[in-house]
Amino acid sequence: MNWAKDLARSVKNILDMSRRSRSVSPSSRTTKRQKVDHLTKESFKNGIFLAPMVRSGCLPTRLFALKHGATLVWGPEMVDKAMLHAKREVDPVTGVISYNGVSRAIFTTHPIEKPYLVFQLGSADPELAVQAAKVVQQDISGIDLNCGCPKPFSTHAGMGAALLTNPDLLCSILTALRAAMPPEITVTAKIRLLPSQEDTLKLVERIVNTGISALTVHCRTRNMRDKNPAVIERLREIVDFVDKMGKGIAVTENGDCEGWEDSKRVRKVTGASSVMIARGAESNPSCFSETPLVDVEKTLMPAYLRLCKYLDNHWSLTKFCVTQFKGKRVEATKAESTELRQKIAKAKSFDDMAKVAAPWTGEDEMKAIIQAIEENNPKDRRLLPSQFLGDNAPPDEDEEGIPEYSSQEPIPNYFTPEHTQNPEPPSLRAPHLPNNFERLVLPPSEPPTPTQTLKPSLTASP
Ligand SMILES: Cc1cc2nc3c(=O)[nH]c(=O)nc-3n(C[C@H](O)[C@H](O)[C@H](O)COP(=O)(O)O)c2cc1C
Repeated sequence: MNWAKDLARSVKNILDMSRRSRSVSPSSRTTKRQKVDHLTKESFKNGIFLAPMVRSGCLPTRLFALKHGATLVWGPEMVDKAMLHAKREVDPVTGVISYNGVSRAIFTTHPIEKPYLVFQLGSADPELAVQAAKVVQQDISGIDLNCGCPKPFSTHAGMGAALLTNPDLLCSILTALRAAMPPEITVTAKIRLLPSQEDTLKLVERIVNTGISALTVHCRTRNMRDKNPAVIERLREIVDFVDKMGKGIAVTENGDCEGWEDSKRVRKVTGASSVMIARGAESNPSCFSETPLVDVEKTLMPAYLRLCKYLDNHWSLTKFCVTQFKGKRVEATKAESTELRQKIAKAKSFDDMAKVAAPWTGEDEMKAIIQAIEENNPKDRRLLPSQFLGDNAPPDEDEEGIPEYSSQEPIPNYFTPEHTQNPEPPSLRAPHLPNNFERLVLPPSEPPTPTQTLKPSLTASP
């Protein structure tokens, strides 16, 4: 059982480290650590990130993503009000930190992911956003504002994609967060495209001027469904625009990037510094690796189940995540895969999966994750700078499926298909709502585009 002691020691070291990093007179080792641990604008460049995902982006998924090559990980959106009264508890054995609501943990994290963890907030109020950020500040490295969720539970409260058409509010939240957070906590934003490119650029200019450290653009408009291809061709102009603003802000592409290999295509088309992956990682959290796991039924699923049990991840959440896993079959047969999936579908608790995952040594999985992260700092795992991808050159002829793009060509206006607003019901993925949700509902007539006056430089631009 030496490894168990090693693991306990490792967790204790991490907890000590995070405690020490807040002390007033750090040792020279801690000073060095602090420098490395804090996120900066540079940390968001040439990276491959795990996207925020309610449910699917839970702690075990984030840890697997970090083990398998993600540079940084975003937590699932948490609504500001839900965090305000959350009670923080630390599991002394595993080191898991839980922020508990009335009846359940609403957010869990672990000190090993802190240097790479961006916490995503849903908010429509600068003061509440700041209060919520202060609650979790000690366990995270960055705060991201969700300005893209199109679902009614978000938009009716003025949060998510509703902020895209309320730029004054959006920017006031970012400004308040930047002013309230210590410099070592980055503030970032994740937006969607507006229907017109010009309005998108106007909005981006305002957002970048709030002092954020990085910007993610989900290349769909508010009304587009996930099944509509992301219009990544629109991003290059945005990337160039932000670059010309000269603030050293990286733009991250989000939308339809499937993994490490596919990131080359996406960055070549868009010129984006980094990519952020959601559904690709939901299917296979090792997609960040140059050699993602295959035969997920034999490799990923048992290990994931073991880790979830060890971390005390809720069974229904675990079941949901495991059910999403898909991957190339190399040695596993179709019959084996089907049998396992049927077992999972019927399982009502971890015990029902004992035969698949036993022996239940999730500590081994945790130990391997800690070791992988300590030996290979995720922040050092970078993609080739996009100039080496020849992003101004037309895509290679032999690379199928890469849309032709030339920055000289006019960019088409991608209007949202009609009758496609808020395609998915606010069902399982709904985050914890504020108690006074009803009172926060905004009037339906939001202005269609940002209204703020712009600097002349922008009005004259493309
Ligand atoms: C299960 C699920 C949950 C999501 N939850 C969030 C969220 O909490 N915050 C957010 O900004 N976007 C959320 N998204 C959107 C993704 O972050 C991402 O923008 C979108 O899926 C497009 O990326 P993709 O094409 O790589 O999937 C979610 C997406 C999925 C599939």
